[in-house]
Amino acid sequence: MEVLGLDSEFWCLLILMKTQVAIIGAGPSGLLLSRYLAINGIESIVIEDRSREYVGARIRAGLLETQTVNLMQELGMGDRLRKEGFEHEGIYLQIPGEKKRLDLKELIGHTVWVYGQTEIQKDLNEACDQANQQIFYSVSDVEHHNIDSDNPAVTFTDSDGNTQRIDCAVIAGCDGFWGPSRKAIPGVEEGSFERVYPFSWLGVMANVAPSTDELIYARHPDGFAMHSMRSDKISRLYLQVDNDDDINNWSDDRIWDALSTRMADDGWELKTGEITEKNILAMRSFVAGKLQHGRLFLVGDAGHTVPPTGAKGLNSAANDVRFLGEGLVDFFNKNDAGLLNRYSERAKETIWRVTHFSWWMTSMLHTNGNEFDNQLQLSQLKHLFKNRALQINLAENYVGIR
Ligand code: FAD
Ligand code: PHB
Repeated sequence: MEVLGLDSEFWCLLILMKTQVAIIGAGPSGLLLSRYLAINGIESIVIEDRSREYVGARIRAGLLETQTVNLMQELGMGDRLRKEGFEHEGIYLQIPGEKKRLDLKELIGHTVWVYGQTEIQKDLNEACDQANQQIFYSVSDVEHHNIDSDNPAVTFTDSDGNTQRIDCAVIAGCDGFWGPSRKAIPGVEEGSFERVYPFSWLGVMANVAPSTDELIYARHPDGFAMHSMRSDKISRLYLQVDNDDDINNWSDDRIWDALSTRMADDGWELKTGEITEKNILAMRSFVAGKLQHGRLFLVGDAGHTVPPTGAKGLNSAANDVRFLGEGLVDFFNKNDAGLLNRYSERAKETIWRVTHFSWWMTSMLHTNGNEFDNQLQLSQLKHLFKNRALQINLAENYVGIR
């Protein structure tokens, strides 16, 4: 903090701070970026509009690509992940009467990891605390200033009601799909692409041992169903539901019945237990026209989102962090803006690959009531069950080889 001033007009405290990178959002993108920068000797300040507890408890991602695990390791946070996470060598794809295991390890020599976003958030927060990094939670009124200049700034109201200003060289917008950073880029709608899907996911967390050793992705005439997990005592499950459905229509019994029906397989039984959380999530694909403007850069869900079917959101956010991190290291430590100027171009190559993969998995596995589409989906899945080249293609995209 540099100067303490008094804003005479409103008689409230105006606190002025200075840093190299102001990071908006303390989700996975924001905290991963702040760790990446700190390890490379670059200062940052993070601001977040929710409380630390709220962000830490938000149930979202569960599946990590090897390269996300590698990034966590490089940033000094891989040990607990490797100890408590589950390495999976395969996944199951299923239609009624046929269950196919794709052996990722055998097909392409790579694996994925099951480790909840809540655990990642915990690891990130602890690492930030240990390094005494500055993170302001529960802020409001976040605004970007002078993003076209070499000296941009962010202003906000802190949790005590004081106005604060961060003068910086770069702003990283890590504030998710609904945050203010994308909207601060002039003309961002131009060249942006969005697809909202005609179905949603009902996500369930349950206190019951997983009924499967690896994730199940099931296509059924009643709709998609999925079985994931968080530990050997906690299952994470999903059901395709209509966009206008209401969570109150889904009693616990109805949820378990639907999951059992959609994932039914000879000799297999779904274990049921106490449902501790259930909610309905809309699905969209979105890619912003621009990921950078002047000194403002969009990272993760702020710049692009995917439906969760391919498990790519957090993983591609981690990919952005690496690209932006490399650009900022050259910019601050070598006075070379080359990589930074190419951030959007570099990140977008991966973003479009994961956008395609997530759209493809979503389109293949969700029913939409159209018989022609049903037949195409079944044909595609049956072809995939037999065809090694297609399996390799799915496996490479799933584990994140690009
Ligand atoms: P967010 O996590 O959205 O973080 C943005 C942060 O910015 C939030 O904390 C928000 O509160 C804050 N913010 C917003 N506005 C402001 C403001 N005005 N001022 C300050 N802060 C602000 N991805 C995977 O890779 N694998 C999976 O298995 C997977 N499964 C998923 C399952 C579900 C059900 C869902 C919903 C998502 C899943 N994802 C998955 C996607 C993943 O959760 C997201 O892509 C990831 O959270 C993106 O991280 P982020 O930091 O970019 O954005
Ligand atoms: C999850 O565990 O929440 C999860 C896993 C894989 C997906 C989506 C969600 O594709």
